[in-house]
Amino acid sequence: MAGSAFQARKAHGYSMQTTTTLKENPITFELTEDQSLIEEMVREMAEKEFAPRAAEVDQKHRFPRENWDLLAASDLCGLPFPEEYGGAGLDHMTYAIVVEELAKACATTSVMYSAHVSLTATPVYIFGTEEQRNRILRPMCSGEKMGAFCLSEPGTGSDSAAATCMADDKGDYFLLNGSKNWITNGIEADWYLIIAQTDLAKRHKGLVAIMVEKGSEGFTFGKLEDKLGIRGSSTCQVIFEDTKVPKANMLGEMGDGFKVAMVTLDGGRIGIAAQAVGIAQGAWNHAYKYSRERQAFGKYIGDLQAIQHMLADMQTEIDAARLLTYHASLAQDRGDKFTTEAAHAKLFAAEVAMRSTVKCVQIFGGYGYVTDYPAERYMRDAKITEIYEGTSEIQRLVIASNLLKGN
Ligand code: CAA
Repeated sequence: MAGSAFQARKAHGYSMQTTTTLKENPITFELTEDQSLIEEMVREMAEKEFAPRAAEVDQKHRFPRENWDLLAASDLCGLPFPEEYGGAGLDHMTYAIVVEELAKACATTSVMYSAHVSLTATPVYIFGTEEQRNRILRPMCSGEKMGAFCLSEPGTGSDSAAATCMADDKGDYFLLNGSKNWITNGIEADWYLIIAQTDLAKRHKGLVAIMVEKGSEGFTFGKLEDKLGIRGSSTCQVIFEDTKVPKANMLGEMGDGFKVAMVTLDGGRIGIAAQAVGIAQGAWNHAYKYSRERQAFGKYIGDLQAIQHMLADMQTEIDAARLLTYHASLAQDRGDKFTTEAAHAKLFAAEVAMRSTVKCVQIFGGYGYVTDYPAERYMRDAKITEIYEGTSEIQRLVIASNLLKGN
């Protein structure tokens, strides 16, 4: 049958040429033994340690430093980096699995972790010199130092090339002036990756990427943001007034800042996709449990078809979002260009997280609308995944422009 279909296509003038077969280059989402073990370990840790304090962290807007300490003690802070820099030498798929498990229990903890690994340590590894990897990356891998990524500004979010935070070239140092907004790990981090402008007329070609250390002169913080969700994560403005940054802290070359930001965000977006999958799966788990406890019309609500349909739709979409996230991680691990795959995963997973958490609140009914149950927190936490590291509109733009370029 397959043979005759192929003959028919040939007869119509189509031909098929491949250099690799599916057998040589299989797409498999089956977890390896190591990945399964790490998934189990992080799930157990997150359920036991992070989930029980997630509501308190959210209500008090408290940065859970003890969660960071546990991630560091578990050798997770440098998970995808080579052992020679103090990392665990694992792959990006394992990283996505870890982020999902954290987000299921506590979205705040997952973003604290992903802003450190994907957005700050990764560009130091990719664009850093050996000296920078040893000086900056190594203590980040151990968790002794935490990272933060600073691209957005009060007046520029999606249009990254319009950054106006200035880095004046003074020979062997930059003089930094301006501010950066919405900085995850805000006042808690130790190393800040700043994308700054050297020449406004050059737009994206004038940007540089520089690592700035907490405590540098003229480096201060604005107010902590009062957010809708992920309320335990520290988000604030960072401000520079004549802050001297040695040239030795520049990642890449002069003018590489935009490339550093975009390559970093490609990986970061897979982290946010994994976070969205985790939030959605966490909400589903609570909704399922509640549907087996709550009774209406003389039966468990999980025995009512209306509720069953909601649970079925949620889990179908969550599984699809997870597969897109794994697909993007596998492309990253293969060393392929994965810009489009990352945008697919983030776009779809974020929208799934939103739809699933709204359904979760609906299943809980009135109890979904109050803080006695976690349903409303999951819904508030989900919303940011459609906004940060590139809004859903930016993901559509990235996907479309790559499609049009034939990428
Ligand atoms: N990888 C490598 N290079 C890339 C790239 C990528 N993914 N995307 C673009 N580039 C290169 C292009 O090839 C081009 O190079 P040349 O100059 O050599 O031709 C250059 O960058 C400019 O590309 P574009 O013309 O496409 O750039 P643009 O100005 O139109 O912007 C954009 C494109 C996709 C809109 C980009 O600005 C963007 O992604 N914006 C969203 C920014 C974002 O996600 N912000 C979130 C902030 S981080 C955050 O949320 C923090 C947190 O703490 C969680």
